[in-house]
Amino acid sequence: MENNDLYPMIFRRKSIRTYDMAPLNEKILQKISDSLHTLHPMCDDIKTEFTIISHNQIRRARKKAPHYIAAFSEKKAHYLTNIGFMLQQMDLFFSANEIGSCWKGIPQPTKKVKENSNLEFVILMAFGNTKETLHRMNVSEFNRKPLSKITDITGMKELLDAARLAPSSTNCQAWYFTGNETMIHAYIGKPGILRRLFATTTLQIDIGIALYHLKIAAEHFGKKATISYSPTAQTAPSKGHTYIATLNIS
Ligand SMILES: Cc1cc2nc3c(=O)[nH]c(=O)nc-3n(C[C@H](O)[C@H](O)[C@H](O)COP(=O)(O)O)c2cc1C
Repeated sequence: MENNDLYPMIFRRKSIRTYDMAPLNEKILQKISDSLHTLHPMCDDIKTEFTIISHNQIRRARKKAPHYIAAFSEKKAHYLTNIGFMLQQMDLFFSANEIGSCWKGIPQPTKKVKENSNLEFVILMAFGNTKETLHRMNVSEFNRKPLSKITDITGMKELLDAARLAPSSTNCQAWYFTGNETMIHAYIGKPGILRRLFATTTLQIDIGIALYHLKIAAEHFGKKATISYSPTAQTAPSKGHTYIATLNIS
């Protein structure tokens, strides 16, 4: 199993919801477990924990997968965005290694699983061998907003397109990007009325996912990309959006 260049997977990945319920073999599960220890955080100072659990340890799932990653975090500023940023690395890793996966915001692990960690449970990611087609063949298969709806930056299409194609809860894509060639400010946008009911935590996870896509796209094009928090962007939110973080590109 390799995770050298996850960038191409941005254009092929999709959420998998129908799984072969046979468990993955021990060797593969061990490699997945090893990968969980190599995830890059967005914020170095937030403690996180990622545990592989089985479908027997899940509640409220309509269609189950054989395995899940349960993500736990210390509750600090940016912790949800940090989890989005980290766990999206696994979504792309699974896709690159012919394993299906899907973020799961609705199902929950059992009380016992939650009690096993001192950290706060955040979200699940389902994974396993898929019974559906694993990859999209063409970008036109993504149901996404056009770039003009999610950014006012002209140019930088290669990077912004990577963010545009990111997965988001209920595919709401409630994000907005401003900036230029050296910095991209990421904002949470306004979701539709119905989606607002679910949106408090998941929008912050979503923007972490998009920031990770932006970062690996920048790196793919030979740039150095780091995340910071810009005081200027914070005081000037665009179009009623809430500022989250900035990707600095050099
Ligand atoms: C934070 C988050 C939570 C999600 N929760 C669920 C879920 O509970 N159930 C589900 O079937 N899909 C869930 N999804 C998957 C989205 O519905 C999916 O990413 C979106 O519709 C875009 O489709 P794609 O991932 O195939 O590109 C979630 C995605 C994210 C990012």
